[in-house]
Amino acid sequence: MARRWFFGWQAVVAFFLYMIFLTTQVTSQPQTNLLLRSCSLQNTRSSFRSLNETFREVRRLLSNNNTYFATSEKTRSSEPVYMMAQCRLYMSTVDCLACYDVATSNTRACGAASGARAVLDGCFLRYDPTRFYEDATQPGNVAYCGNHTATKPTRFQTTVNGLLSNLTIATHKINDLFVASSSNIHGSNRSVYAIAQCAPTVAQNGCKVCLKVAYFNIMSCLPFVDGRALDTGCFMRYSNKPFFRKNETTNIESYLVEDSSKKRAIIGGVVGSLGLLSMILLAILLWCCRSKKRSTPRGKSFGRSDQLQDPFKYSYSDLKKATKNFCNDYKLGEGGYGEVYKGNINLGNTVAVKKLLVSSAKEDFESEVRVLTNVHHRNLIRLLGCCNEGPELLLVLEYMENGSLEKFLYGERKGILNWKQRRDIILGIAKGLAYLHEQYHVTIIHRDINPRNILLDNDFQPKIADFGLARLLPEDQTHISTRVAGTFGYTAPEYAIHGQLSEKSDTYSFGIVVLEIVSGKRCTDVLDVSHQYLLEHARNMYENRIPLNLIDEELDQSEYTEQDVQKIIEIALLCTRSTVSERPTMSEVLILLNDRSGDHRPPTRLPFNVLNFNVHIDDPSYVASSITNAVASMTELTAR
Ligand SMILES: *[C@@H]1O[C@H](CO)[C@@H](O)[C@H](O)[C@H]1NC(C)=O
Ligand SMILES: *[C@@H]1O[C@H](CO)[C@@H](O)[C@H](O)[C@H]1NC(C)=O
Ligand SMILES: *[C@@H]1O[C@H](CO)[C@@H](O)[C@H](O)[C@H]1NC(C)=O
Ligand SMILES: *[C@@H]1O[C@H](CO)[C@@H](O)[C@H](O)[C@H]1NC(C)=O
Ligand SMILES: *[C@@H]1O[C@H](CO)[C@@H](O)[C@H](O)[C@H]1NC(C)=O
Ligand SMILES: *[C@@H]1O[C@H](CO)[C@@H](O)[C@H](O)[C@H]1NC(C)=O
Ligand SMILES: [Mg+2]
Repeated sequence: MARRWFFGWQAVVAFFLYMIFLTTQVTSQPQTNLLLRSCSLQNTRSSFRSLNETFREVRRLLSNNNTYFATSEKTRSSEPVYMMAQCRLYMSTVDCLACYDVATSNTRACGAASGARAVLDGCFLRYDPTRFYEDATQPGNVAYCGNHTATKPTRFQTTVNGLLSNLTIATHKINDLFVASSSNIHGSNRSVYAIAQCAPTVAQNGCKVCLKVAYFNIMSCLPFVDGRALDTGCFMRYSNKPFFRKNETTNIESYLVEDSSKKRAIIGGVVGSLGLLSMILLAILLWCCRSKKRSTPRGKSFGRSDQLQDPFKYSYSDLKKATKNFCNDYKLGEGGYGEVYKGNINLGNTVAVKKLLVSSAKEDFESEVRVLTNVHHRNLIRLLGCCNEGPELLLVLEYMENGSLEKFLYGERKGILNWKQRRDIILGIAKGLAYLHEQYHVTIIHRDINPRNILLDNDFQPKIADFGLARLLPEDQTHISTRVAGTFGYTAPEYAIHGQLSEKSDTYSFGIVVLEIVSGKRCTDVLDVSHQYLLEHARNMYENRIPLNLIDEELDQSEYTEQDVQKIIEIALLCTRSTVSERPTMSEVLILLNDRSGDHRPPTRLPFNVLNFNVHIDDPSYVASSITNAVASMTELTAR
């Protein structure tokens, strides 16, 4: 009994000591200044179980003394998670955990996104459905600069430059892949402080490459008194104020001197065996070229533009025959870029043949067609080939039996689509556009998103047609085509009025199409109820908090929930904001559409200001990275 009491008393004291320790340490410097948060768009999670488990596991690993880096993964679940976290080496364990907790809560704001990343001054956290541990650097990772200029800019600049260049040389050679260092500014009693750190998983080489890029980026911050560069596998920071304790600095001098005797020996060897070496090199070169030729089958598609599949060349006479000499019965429609005909090629293979409405093509017509031929996405119409030998330029495209969305919204087949189908169509269009804008190797702005350019396949899945056609026109005709390109009512105001074209013009047109899909009404019709155009009407209904009045009467009320419809309308209104910068990118739209976390909230819980959506993507490269990531492989837990 007494024994047990004794242990209890000891525990209480220990607890109090621990609390004192905790509070003093936490207030010291958890460095939770958030530098970057981004959410990945690739899929969403339906379950948070494995995510929560990895959060806990990483936290457990970091809570060990002298552990600053941890990874954990759940690869066997249907929704795999790879997670990585790292604290700066100058942080105490308590500060590290405090920073990690802030990072965790920041990534939780990504909701159901499948991946997220938060970078703070003191630590970073990232998780993703695919393995990314070895990624060192990715384009788009930039510098984060302070806003105060140093008092003696030139001297400050010289010192920072020297210090950071020393860190860039030394850090990858040091076991911890971490350096903290400071340097006196010449002729003053002030100092600058800097750190560089790599994730151990990128290894020496990745660290070297990543810090070179970071060094280049962070230089853009000078002459400001502080700056940071963050990349996938490394971090660099400088400041005129100390942000780590003096006893944490690393002595890097020995890593800075080149090993000159070794170098000389290498040079001697190289010169001596130069003849032999060049012969070997030549042989390797020849062998490489030959095997490359052999192993690259013609037509196989790769991500790079110089390895794109060539478009198939159709003969003019074949296409003429396939469309019965372009007879009117075979005409499917007429768009901004020309007439489209149905064609039968090779016994029952149906295609669509588009006559381009231009007399001459761009000189590099074929290379532009090649770019479009290699667009492969389930929500984009395939370009099968082309023909430029006859009097017109012809494009051969995938044929869609169900025709365009226009027919289903307010044409002969109005009322056929139920709510789920409409929602899927909205999602599909967003996916197709996000691909064109952000995931294909060149950015393609559609310019003419409207229901006539959305075709439906047999399962009513949408496929966007007519993208990238402006690329095929000669420069002097692009003015004409920009005028032709947009369709009245769908064109963003800045594009229609000033010709300012950006991905956000497509976002606007998308928003209008969404309103049409929800309401079953044309955006250019003046509505009987309010004597307004659709967009104006929708904004009014939303402001008066009766957005449901917008919904198509043809829809069965049992098919949809009020919250879902309201959310879709909010997204459409967000997309159609007149200020370009306030519109989301299409990848952000995808996250909003996929976010099911709001489904259980009462509608009043949603912020009235539709801009207050709880999603931030400030790093487009991250989005790309999670998609191009290599195939996931099993690994065991690592910690250091
Ligand atoms: C995961 O953790 C968050 C925050 O701690 C919690 O809100 C959520 O309910 C957890 N989910 C599951 C499935 O445990
Ligand atoms: C970490 O170090 C502190 C102080 O040195 C000690 O009290 C604590 O028990 C250690 N924790 C672990 C998990 O080793
Ligand atoms: C500088 O940045 C701080 C916060 O980082 C901000 O509060 C301050 O207003 C900025 N000053 C200027 C001149 O932009
Ligand atoms: C960088 O390293 C060199 C070589 O040790 C040293 O002479 C120089 O002072 C260092 N620069 C700074 C700014 O610390
Ligand atoms: C640095 O020098 C300035 C003037 O030369 C002086 O006012 C200041 O107190 C000095 N600071 C320190 C920390 O020595
Ligand atoms: C630096 O000093 C602090 C306290 O002054 C101490 O807690 C810490 O362990 C020291 N760090 C190193 C690397 O010696
Ligand atoms: Mg069209």
